Amino acid sequence: MKTIRVGLIGAGTVGLGVLKILKEEASSLEKELRIRVQVHSICSRSLEKLHSVRKDFPEAIITDDFRTVAGNPDIDVILELVGGVDVAEKILLSSLKAKQTVITANKALLSQKGESIYKLAEENGTEIGFEAAVGGAIPVIRVIRNCLSGDNILGLYGILNGTTNFILSKMEREHLDYGQALVLAQKAGFAEADPSFDVEGIDTAHKISIIGSLAFKEKIPLQSITVEGITKITRLDIQFAAELGYRIKLLGLVRKLDGKVEARVQPVMIPKHHAFASVMDETNAIYYKAAFAGPGLLMGKGAGSLPTASAVVSDLLYYGARRDTQPISEKNRFSAAEISEANQTEARYYLRFNTVDKPGVLAEIAKVLGSNSVSISSVRQNESDSEPVEVVVVTHPCSESSIQTSLARIDSLEIILEPSIAIRLEDKL
Ligand code: HSE
Repeated sequence: MKTIRVGLIGAGTVGLGVLKILKEEASSLEKELRIRVQVHSICSRSLEKLHSVRKDFPEAIITDDFRTVAGNPDIDVILELVGGVDVAEKILLSSLKAKQTVITANKALLSQKGESIYKLAEENGTEIGFEAAVGGAIPVIRVIRNCLSGDNILGLYGILNGTTNFILSKMEREHLDYGQALVLAQKAGFAEADPSFDVEGIDTAHKISIIGSLAFKEKIPLQSITVEGITKITRLDIQFAAELGYRIKLLGLVRKLDGKVEARVQPVMIPKHHAFASVMDETNAIYYKAAFAGPGLLMGKGAGSLPTASAVVSDLLYYGARRDTQPISEKNRFSAAEISEANQTEARYYLRFNTVDKPGVLAEIAKVLGSNSVSISSVRQNESDSEPVEVVVVTHPCSESSIQTSLARIDSLEIILEPSIAIRLEDKL
């Protein structure tokens, strides 16, 4: 029987979920895996939350000082579940220096400071598990690292933020405006403490930076990712997308073309018949394309107490069992990727212009598009009594740069009352 001595820091939603799983699964872990997880210490800023935990783990030391846990030589594995960057970083640094194995769900920390943290782990001959940092319960890190390790990953496409997927789903199903759906998402409790992390695409960027770097074995820094959120998406965009046979999703993507990496987070239109379009509400999914395995879809719960805790416990068992027996084989540090400036592949675009309602508007827009080699496939406008009126254009395949140049020019015209919107149609996903 192998004993893993664990120190849990951060008894919030995920931390309490981990303790619940460890209590419920203790005897089957011993019987089936021959592993005994000994909860040595539990650390929380608010000790009153730990009333029932004290009963469930009577032998555990309960403390509100993480310094007595991180780096404690009587502990093998630290579960860092405090979130945020500053305190979490201190915990990781003390733990790794003491050669403790670290399991974390902290995507913000890893995507911002991963480089120095991974280096420290390597220097100290220890490991970091972070399955829970991306896609909650979905086993994506292990799939990229282990299951597809003999393959060549060509691209990863992720619906990686439950809040935004919930908002877009509500807007579509219940015909809500963005603001109304955001309130529902906040009430449902999915959002990050700062909802702009979710709706502006930053949370997705953290996650795509982590899995993209692992997939290509090249570092994709957060700053190199082009990020656009969902705050400008209107009910009308959702309605037009549906009429065209598409669904709008906030997509994080990394893919390789001619040796360069394209890394971006943006709302895109996914054809309704594609499996990815059926990922609704707070569900997350990762769609991968590999040279030999072909395309595959991983789907599941991307957040929540027990789903995230399940991934933490899985890492605890996997990395805990490897301690002292396995050579370090999983590298997290890579050289920098060459990032392409703009999207290299041509695509169709949905364009929405908010204009005055007078003769000649369409002609002016069409003229600018034509002069930038953007060919129009269809034009729509709903009847309206008030301005601005929304004119929607779907283009034939064209380059992203021709769209950007056109929109900059069009938005300077007097007929345009609000900034125009461009959404890419991901027909080749
Ligand atoms: N706020 C995140 C989401 C939680 O909505 O998916 C999990 O990272």
